[in-house]
Amino acid sequence: MAHDGIAYMERFKDPEALAQFLDKQRDNEGLMAAKPGLEGLGFVPTMGALHAGHTSLVNCSVSQCQRTLVSIFVNPTQFDRAEDLAVYPRHEDDDLALLAPTGCDAVWMPSVQDLYPGGAAVSEHWNFAGLDQGMEGEHRSGHFAGVAQVVVLLLRTIKPDVLYLGQKDYQQCRILEHVIEQEGLPVRVQVCPIVRESDGLAMSSRNLLLDAAPRQNAVALSRTLFAARAMARTSSPQQVVAFARRALTDAHGLDLGYAELVHSKTLEPLESWPDDAPAVLCAAAWAGSVRLIDNVLVTQEDRA
Ligand code: PAJ
Repeated sequence: MAHDGIAYMERFKDPEALAQFLDKQRDNEGLMAAKPGLEGLGFVPTMGALHAGHTSLVNCSVSQCQRTLVSIFVNPTQFDRAEDLAVYPRHEDDDLALLAPTGCDAVWMPSVQDLYPGGAAVSEHWNFAGLDQGMEGEHRSGHFAGVAQVVVLLLRTIKPDVLYLGQKDYQQCRILEHVIEQEGLPVRVQVCPIVRESDGLAMSSRNLLLDAAPRQNAVALSRTLFAARAMARTSSPQQVVAFARRALTDAHGLDLGYAELVHSKTLEPLESWPDDAPAVLCAAAWAGSVRLIDNVLVTQEDRA
């Protein structure tokens, strides 16, 4: 929304205010036609502690959609460890300051009570068709059920035209795409590339929890993935995975969670290079007490 040419970002917590914002967008055809040729409402769900990875999704939505809505909600049902939820960074003022110049139209910050009036628990279960087996699904029990529940709840409430997700959470993207298709929700999913620090570390809200030494050690995660991808031209999937596991095991100050080379659609571990889609090399590692994840696509071109 522009007042006297200055971009104005609405911010609200109350679901009533959200409903008013959404009504205003849908009722006012003049407003929705303000940027001809663009899609309608773009939606960027987040858990706050925002960084340039999040704002890249917002920028993408602002460039593709008439209106952009961001949600900030630390969703308790997707945390498998209470201590992880307790230390999850919350920086509302900084988040709003970062969003204001993006051209984002509104930020919704619901409370736990708003989204889960009956109590924060997973109450709806989906068949993830095996996409939740392995990797994050294996290491974080119930995590994806919590993610799917909150995102479906948000999509049913907001009814956006486009949902913006980051490749950073690759398994999350595939699971949400699957659930959206299963539910027949009329929303296009746009997956945006990973934004990295200058040394290659994938940006993450959890990076704020890294002290100086673990922060330095953390860079071995992305370096290993890049080096493993560079091997793809001359190596089998087994050799690439073995290299990544060995390098992450040997990396100073890192503890390997997993390293898996999977099909980009089915997420099944690969025995040979697929002809029909890219492969994805996904990994998780602990840097001190902070668990980090990252991934790289391995395309046909990387292997040619
Ligand atoms: P959160 O971790 O806050 O991430 C919000 C969105 O930002 C996700 O789609 C995530 O993949 C994307 N993102 C995070 N780091 C990124 C980076 N370095 N580059 C590009 N995109 C990045 O993911 C969640 O929250 C939650 O699970 C949520 C979907 C909001 C449901 O609660």
